[in-house]
Amino acid sequence: MTAMLNVRDLRAYYGQVQALHGLEFDLHEGSLTTLLGANGAGKTTTLRAICNMVRSTGAVEFEGKTINKSSTEAIVKLGIAHVPQGRGTFTTMTVEENLALGAISRKDHKAIASDIERMYAHFPVLEKRHTQQAGTLSGGEQQMLAVARALMLRPRLMLLDEPSFGLAPLIVRDLFKILGKINREDKVTILVVEQNAQLALELADKAYVIETGRIVMSGSADQIASNEDVRKSYLGY
Ligand SMILES: Nc1ncnc2c1ncn2[C@@H]1O[C@H](COP(=O)(O)OP(=O)(O)OP(=O)(O)O)[C@@H](O)[C@H]1O
Ligand SMILES: [Mg+2]
Repeated sequence: MTAMLNVRDLRAYYGQVQALHGLEFDLHEGSLTTLLGANGAGKTTTLRAICNMVRSTGAVEFEGKTINKSSTEAIVKLGIAHVPQGRGTFTTMTVEENLALGAISRKDHKAIASDIERMYAHFPVLEKRHTQQAGTLSGGEQQMLAVARALMLRPRLMLLDEPSFGLAPLIVRDLFKILGKINREDKVTILVVEQNAQLALELADKAYVIETGRIVMSGSADQIASNEDVRKSYLGY
């Protein structure tokens, strides 16, 4: 089986500083993969490199096509959505306006309204708050809005940067449950970058561990979660 996303010898640079040192990993279509690592390990940089938002060398292939030299717009058009660290919703716009904006590059205008309804089915709290300004939502609600807005692109691959950040464990559990559902029912392949290893491993099928810009471990989420050495050395629990 060939992978949907192939990453080979990926190196990334901030000026003279090298942040990724030859990453190699694959994402299979339909999978839910987590990339785990401590502060500064290179998780955010990995997502940025996939979307060509940082200078990189090496190859990122999406369905056999090299994308890490394409424009961010072209990458979005291929069906890759990126939910960056820190959510980034438009705080003075309403929930519904944020969702509509997520679909702005789409031409199938009729389907957009039904997709907004689908988002409300996934995230009922967003329907309750649909006329409210995004900036007045709780952290968890804003994260849900950021995910829903990304889904309005109808992506085939969604990249999520620490969706659990700053959220209470119960809210994270809720959000991850919905991500699992989106992965299974809407067939969206998901890569979720996390420091919260324990919860991410419950959600994911497959896991990679990154340390100082290198993949140091990979396996099924169950294998990684049950390996005490890995847990103690890299995951801190
Ligand atoms: N804009 C930048 N300029 C210079 N160095 C950067 C920049 N952004 C990140 N780095 C460096 O690149 C390395 C990887 O950072 P990155 O943000 O990818 O880590 P991370 O795993 O996402 O960490 P965190 O869990 O804190 O979000 C770090 O050493 C960091 O200091
Ligand atoms: Mg980060």
